[in-house]
Amino acid sequence: MIPETKKFIRIVTDYLLAEDRTIDFNIYTKPPNSNRPILLIAANTNIADIKATLAKKSHGPLFITQESSKKFENFMEDSLDSIIRNTAIPLEQKSSVVHACAKNIIRDVFDDPRSGRNISRAKTVTSNILDLTLADTQSIRHLLRLGSHDYYTFSHCVNVAVFGIGLWLMISKGDYTELHDFALGCILHDVGKSQIVDSILNKPGKLDYEEFEIIKKHPGQGHWLMAKHASEITLDVIMHHHEKINGQGYPHGLKQDQISDNAKIATIADVYDALTTHRPYAGARRPLSALTLMKEEMTGHFEQKRFEDFILFLGGRSA
Ligand SMILES: [Fe+2]
Ligand SMILES: [Fe+2]
Repeated sequence: MIPETKKFIRIVTDYLLAEDRTIDFNIYTKPPNSNRPILLIAANTNIADIKATLAKKSHGPLFITQESSKKFENFMEDSLDSIIRNTAIPLEQKSSVVHACAKNIIRDVFDDPRSGRNISRAKTVTSNILDLTLADTQSIRHLLRLGSHDYYTFSHCVNVAVFGIGLWLMISKGDYTELHDFALGCILHDVGKSQIVDSILNKPGKLDYEEFEIIKKHPGQGHWLMAKHASEITLDVIMHHHEKINGQGYPHGLKQDQISDNAKIATIADVYDALTTHRPYAGARRPLSALTLMKEEMTGHFEQKRFEDFILFLGGRSA
């Protein structure tokens, strides 16, 4: 008997169970005309029986319990590589699993940024995102569609990486290692915010002077947290994603060519994603409204050429 108080989360497993792996969590379903989930597949059922049950397609929507969500996330993460390589799985579904895994991993990095295991998971999922986007650049559009509704720090980190990869690929012919380290920098760009209290991070109104001084420390704190684990390219993006070409950014007030191309790209991706998603202190802008604001009210923040490249990228054109 399932206790009434158990919380359930809806899942899609059709493509995950294309895997030849068994599961260590229960899967439930809701029979027609009932709101009470019932057990459909028990943990550790053999793979042939799992597939047979799902293949019947007679079940309703599928659920797991909230307590087993961590096991489900691990299952997805372990399957990512083969999901990306599986040509039978539509790009949209692959993008959705990659996006969900990346968000979970960033959440864990923010929870424990000193964990070497979390950082190595972030590196692996960065490679997964690149494998997906380099195999088919259309996946960039799918990934961006998934993250554009609400502003959550974790979703924002993934979006900045996806916008960043898109723009980077348009303008640069650098090697894969540089692209990977740049993308990792984008994913981890705000990791220093894990050291800032929620009351400042999620403050609905304008920040006062002291609060903003605390916020301004997050690039340096992120750099410090990742210094032993990441390359110079990654650390540069973390440290300099709030610099402005007019020298009025932070933390170092760098100007023009003192800012690397990688940091300039990350800055544009960061601001655009923040403006187009819902934040505690501001609603989400439409793409055109965000670009107009960036062009007219943020003069001197971005390099003109890179900003124009970004507009071309959003329009689906090449530079
Ligand atoms: Fe930031
Ligand atoms: Fe950011």
